[in-house]
Amino acid sequence: MLSFAIETARRAGALLLAGLERRRSLELKSAYEVVTEVDRESEALIVSAIRHAFPDHAILAEEGGGIERTSPFLWLIDPLDGTNNYAHGFPFFSVSIALMEDGELRLGVVFDPLRDELFSAERGAGAWRNDQRLRVSDTPALAASLVSTGFPYDFATTTDNNTRQFTRIQARTQGVRRAGSAALDLAYVASGRLDAHWELRLKPWDTAAGALLVLEAGGRLSDWRGQPWNPWNDRLVASNGRIHDELIAALAE
Ligand code: IPD
Ligand code: CA
Ligand code: CA
Repeated sequence: MLSFAIETARRAGALLLAGLERRRSLELKSAYEVVTEVDRESEALIVSAIRHAFPDHAILAEEGGGIERTSPFLWLIDPLDGTNNYAHGFPFFSVSIALMEDGELRLGVVFDPLRDELFSAERGAGAWRNDQRLRVSDTPALAASLVSTGFPYDFATTTDNNTRQFTRIQARTQGVRRAGSAALDLAYVASGRLDAHWELRLKPWDTAAGALLVLEAGGRLSDWRGQPWNPWNDRLVASNGRIHDELIAALAE
């Protein structure tokens, strides 16, 4: 199933690359939330591959092309994470595919087609970037860290929009990046390129694959209170473990 997920993510990534230079027609899903025709084409490719290979499995996919059915296996698909970047030609986006079995994350793949970086993890078997084993950073303190975050699409209409936390944590770290693909941010935490990522109002398809990458690379996951996290919990903190408690404390102030 891992090789299937890897091959499918690569095919979807090729489709994203091919569409990049095409004229991008942007639609608004809601006031600020965008979707392109490429999101839908990539989702159709992934869903049809799963239906063909695993006809009994359930699928939850961002653009609504999933399949609801009773099955121990559930695929979580973000066919293009970083749509806004993609639509503007900003080079930071990914394909994210995860599989849960009986409610537990079993495998996760995040593919960055521009850099040809394929991040993959299987429960109990570690995390990889192409053929290189991944390990989170050993940065010991928040003050020495480089972290990332994101902002929800309803940013303009609510005050619960991460700006207070952003300002606070920006002042206590070596910097906060807002690169625009949560799946890839999490893959970067797993790779030790970032020391932590926190965000709110993410969806299961944004986080499932990246979260398993972080765990399998030796990192830690929780909600913003330090409690156990699952993909349906919309407040995520993922870190190298060593700065986790400090980051949680800073978020809570
Ligand atoms: C978005 C990205 C972004 C995050 C947003 C997500 P999309 O996903 O992951 O980094 O900040 O909250 O919705 O819409 O590009 O698939
Ligand atoms: Ca997403
Ligand atoms: Ca998406």
